[in-house]
Amino acid sequence: MSRDRDEMTDVDRQQSSTGLSVHQKARLTAGTGMWSLPDEPDLALLPITVSDGPNGVRGSRMDERFTGYCTPCGTSLAATWNTATVGAIGELVARDAHRQGVQVVLGPTVNLHRSPLGGRGFECYSEDPQLTADIGVAWVRGLQGLGVAATPKHFVANDSETSRRSVNAVVDQRALRELYLAPFEALAEAGAWSMMTAYNKVNGHYAAAHRELVLELLKGEWGWDGLVMSDWFGAVETVASAVSGLDLEMPGPARVFGEALAAAVEAGDVPADVLDDKVERLLRLARRIGRLSDSTPVTVELRDDQAERAVLRRTAAEGFVLLRNDQGLLPLADVDGRKIAVIGTHAQIPCFHGGGSASLAMNRPVTPLAALRRRFADATLTYEPGCLVREALPSAHTLDIRPTHAPEGRSRRVELTEAPDLQSGAVTVEYFDADAVDAGPYLRETRASTRLTWLGDFPTDGRDLKRALVRVSGYFTTTVAGHHDFSVRGSGKITLRVDGDEVLSVPDRIDKSDVFSLLFGNDEDREGAELNPGEHLLSAEAQVEPAALVALHIGARPPVNDDMFDRAVRSAAEADVALVFVGTTDEIETESQDRSTIQLPGRQVDVARAIAAVCPNTVVVVNAGMPVDLSWAEDVPAVVYAWFPGQEFGDALADVLSGDVEPGGRLPMTLAKTGSDYPAYMIDPGPEKQLDYVESVHIGYRHFDAKGIEPAYCFGHGLGYTDFAYDSIAVTDDGGGSGAVTVRVTVRNVGSRPGKEVVQLYVAPPAGTAAVPRPPQELASFAVVELDAGAEAAVELTLRPRDFAYWDVDVDRWRQEAGEYTVRVGRSSRDVRLTAPVDRAGQVL
Ligand code: BGC
Repeated sequence: MSRDRDEMTDVDRQQSSTGLSVHQKARLTAGTGMWSLPDEPDLALLPITVSDGPNGVRGSRMDERFTGYCTPCGTSLAATWNTATVGAIGELVARDAHRQGVQVVLGPTVNLHRSPLGGRGFECYSEDPQLTADIGVAWVRGLQGLGVAATPKHFVANDSETSRRSVNAVVDQRALRELYLAPFEALAEAGAWSMMTAYNKVNGHYAAAHRELVLELLKGEWGWDGLVMSDWFGAVETVASAVSGLDLEMPGPARVFGEALAAAVEAGDVPADVLDDKVERLLRLARRIGRLSDSTPVTVELRDDQAERAVLRRTAAEGFVLLRNDQGLLPLADVDGRKIAVIGTHAQIPCFHGGGSASLAMNRPVTPLAALRRRFADATLTYEPGCLVREALPSAHTLDIRPTHAPEGRSRRVELTEAPDLQSGAVTVEYFDADAVDAGPYLRETRASTRLTWLGDFPTDGRDLKRALVRVSGYFTTTVAGHHDFSVRGSGKITLRVDGDEVLSVPDRIDKSDVFSLLFGNDEDREGAELNPGEHLLSAEAQVEPAALVALHIGARPPVNDDMFDRAVRSAAEADVALVFVGTTDEIETESQDRSTIQLPGRQVDVARAIAAVCPNTVVVVNAGMPVDLSWAEDVPAVVYAWFPGQEFGDALADVLSGDVEPGGRLPMTLAKTGSDYPAYMIDPGPEKQLDYVESVHIGYRHFDAKGIEPAYCFGHGLGYTDFAYDSIAVTDDGGGSGAVTVRVTVRNVGSRPGKEVVQLYVAPPAGTAAVPRPPQELASFAVVELDAGAEAAVELTLRPRDFAYWDVDVDRWRQEAGEYTVRVGRSSRDVRLTAPVDRAGQVL
């Protein structure tokens, strides 16, 4: 990296000092729009487009007509423990970025699982910094290898969401260095081209204005040459942010930088070379992504849809963690002609991704129900929802609604998806000048969603509108008489009518301190209406400010069948195999809020237990991004943890259940027996808005190991369809205790089919002599091997002095204590098969 960096610096410095005025330079320190960066012809700088995010490229719009490839979520990718697989996902995301005209992707999210309740935990990788670092580096290399910039986020200690814009994370230096900063350090070293600061404060200072962390550590000590951007609306102070290392305020137009920064430079509050450095960093980024008109543009070859889907399908399956598999129930054998009961709404309306900025519109996602019907076509398959899971009402477009003004005529249903289980209706959306509604709409569209969001792209037809009115309307037919529920959520004053009668009228509820929170979660206004069978007209309108974030989400639900539970149990009792789907939702696991519990929503646990009681061959599939309560798992023969596995969920699951493919995942976090066993479980900072990281370096398995708590399933656990033996270990230390150490292990596939093994290496510190409390063991390295039945392989793992060290706060350096360490190698953090002693010399690194 360093040669490349030096060359870049010279070129860029030359280019940036070509006589731009302070104002021209300052203009380059803020976005121009929600997803765009400014151009500057004098520097040959072209505009740059950025986009979320970690689960695939959403593009510049939150709109069901603009789709991207939805990859498995962070925890799913980390569960593969396979850097090659994750690198291929980085490449796929890069190709999709090129297709969508995006040059900077806002990911990966490399904060840690401090608490299982963290709302964005699904976006992050792990409770472990080493696994997070290695998976993050693989993703970034894949992405950047194809010329698209990664933006690791959120630097740093954004490990929970409650009061995210104001919370002060109080973290001691050891925990910061050994845990929370470590993935960012690895990504800086690997050469990520940009990074995003967190919203929160760290030890009293906003991350976006944190001199010690951004300027002195990231750019100084680590020598990182990339561009630092703020999280959206997260730049807080002009001078403090500018002199602390923030380079770019996002989104635009500028509030804190731009003209305000030019004024601060002119007033002498910010040195001129500080501004120059920001411009240099932007130009360096632009050169790397081919956005200087005199640099070579980056081109990549796009692949066909089938090829991309195949990558997503393989990866999702490789992330599935088989937690238990009594009597080898999986893979399902000989189910032709048998009865399979599929139960749980997640089979039909799964969570492909979590909520928030990591969500995206997908093209023909594959539901488990559709894929299982295809894969087990020779079995008799039934489906029962079992219970309701979502708190918010389903999007009204699922009512089989028809637009009022479809060009094809009002009663025609618009087919916008080929996924039969997600088949949905469509509505008419009309846009008016709120001060001239009588003049009629200036624009009319047909949309296949009633979750409508405009992030700076509200259509105004070129008009300079202060207030607009957006109206959604459609006809739906109900076959049952009774209580129909309707809900709204959004910006502005909203009114919902059925057949012209007002059902709901809600004032503007936008939270100005965190406008994005409007889009996430399940806060909605709800009201019922008694309807008779027949056709009805649904309409909702909102008065909005076009320039701001605009949203209008409409939910609807016909009367609910109250014998769901019994029907599900009956169907399982009659079946040879029951496949039960349980999970959280993208409104529970989402940005800007944390969960309050790990319990599964609704009656899902009751359903799972009742099904297992009547059907001995019950498999439970968990569709959740983070840990859920597993107290029921021991009563079920087989459990597959599927995460939010992306758009190919269904086919990947069919591959694994049928045995065509092995479930390749290992847990990237500890699954506890009960919520209170977790360290740092509750993450509400309270009215003081202060979150003390009191557990210091003991998060995840470090805590469970130190306290001797037995988890439900430990870090690193996961079964395959074969078994492995660990035959021998040899340690070579050529550096006399001061240099690197090589560990060679031989593993053998002792089962009857090919399989994948994740060889995990943990380092345990010398017993009893430590100067500071250290975790009993820490993951230092891992490797994936694929072996045929009976085959064996030698696996080589290298340890650096840093893998034995702790952060010594007295000298602000890493310290390797002298003594006998133990290298522990095995199948999980608690299934250690081989150990070896390693003597290390005392040294400061
Ligand atoms: C999130 C970021 C995201 C940005 C743009 C923020 O609210 O915290 O992760 O990249 O929005 O959508």
